Amino acid sequence: MRELKITPIKNGTVIDHITSGFALEVLRIIGANNLDKESTVSVALHVRSRRMGWKDIVKVENMELSPQKVNAIALLSPTATISMIHDFKVIEKRPVALPDRFSGVLKCPNPNCITNKGEPVEPEFEVVRRRPMALRCLFCDRYVDDFLPHLNTR
Ligand SMILES: Nc1ncnc2c1ncn2[C@@H]1O[C@H](COP(=O)(O)OP(=O)(O)OP(=O)(O)O)[C@@H](O)[C@H]1O
Ligand SMILES: [Mg+2]
Ligand SMILES: [Zn+2]
Repeated sequence: MRELKITPIKNGTVIDHITSGFALEVLRIIGANNLDKESTVSVALHVRSRRMGWKDIVKVENMELSPQKVNAIALLSPTATISMIHDFKVIEKRPVALPDRFSGVLKCPNPNCITNKGEPVEPEFEVVRRRPMALRCLFCDRYVDDFLPHLNTR
């Protein structure tokens, strides 16, 4: 009745415990429409979970996630776990963990921010609250809690 709905993979990455409803955003972040031709991507939406009630799952063959993509997933879904599969076995499993400061994931929503003026300044954010997540731009002090529309992957 649970994750066995998805075929096992030999090598790749499992993103489990995704907040129910966010798997399609995760697919966008990992660039699922742009992977090599040998990679099957399996998605399960609205799967029963003892821990979370409901969750989504994404399994991708032959792919590893960059730290920035993991950060983007952590923003959407702080409960997500990332497992690395090698020869059908889990060789590493960890929760996504957004660092207190990060860059490379979000654009600042403030159009007057220096990071939106065509200068070579990379936006950087500080986590001011985790549940629910709220951020502050280190350049203009803008408080950001509606960050989905500002993810770099859009
Ligand atoms: N060969 C495989 N192919 C695809 N997915 C796999 C494979 N092996 C494990 N997984 C998935 O990787 C994740 C971690 O595996 P693990 O066996 O640790 O899961 P678990 O016991 O359900 O733990 P959790 O508490 O994280 O749910 C789970 O989502 C599991 O479904
Ligand atoms: Mg499980
Ligand atoms: Zn800013």
